[in-house]
Amino acid sequence: GKINIAIDGPAGAGKSTIARRVATRLGYIYVDTGAMYRAVTWHMLQLNIEPDNAENVLQEAQKLVIELIPDENGQKVLVNEIDVTSEIRTLAVNRSVSRYAQIEGVRLQLSTIQRHMASRKGVVMDGRDIGSHVLPDAELKIFMTATVQERARRRFAEMDASESITLEQLEQEIAQRDQLDEQREFSPLVCADDAIVLDTTTMGIDEVATRILELAHT
Ligand code: C5P
Repeated sequence: GKINIAIDGPAGAGKSTIARRVATRLGYIYVDTGAMYRAVTWHMLQLNIEPDNAENVLQEAQKLVIELIPDENGQKVLVNEIDVTSEIRTLAVNRSVSRYAQIEGVRLQLSTIQRHMASRKGVVMDGRDIGSHVLPDAELKIFMTATVQERARRRFAEMDASESITLEQLEQEIAQRDQLDEQREFSPLVCADDAIVLDTTTMGIDEVATRILELAHT
């Protein structure tokens, strides 16, 4: 039968690339929960609603319809039918997303949707709190890590040339985002007790995907 696979870890560890590949191989659905937090963040930035104003954020978040639609290049992300696939990957969103993701009501709203998406099994879900909080009963839990230097290098390599930031700055921003995600009050970034830790610093994409597929079949 089908299982659920949770893949958690800090920013830039390679979760989404691997999760997508594993999902394709297994014929499973890939759910990128980071894209959902990014979509909420993009929308709040559009409306100029500060993360400190939790009440306002929640009120607006409840009106949002967020859709993740698989396509050849991964997935399309729609917010109230607007395609925000590239908008949610900008530095502006990177810099704010952890502040909005700290809000308990936002987390409750998104984790409820995420649980629904996984209720019929056959889902590979990546994020920060999937194994620990959203899907504590997932049959396979992976915690992917890599050094912050390596993670920054990977993100830098896939960045748009129009984004003016140095590798060193990016490394700092990633470290800062990890810290906010680890230290927040509600469902922080944490390795679940029963997760298998994969340090991908010196591993290739194929190697990591193969390892997870092996684990999924056992
Ligand atoms: O994975 P990605 O880098 O796209 O996630 C963006 C941000 O969304 C994270 O830094 C974190 O603040 C938030 N997030 C979260 N819980 C998740 C997934 C993402 O808080 N399950």
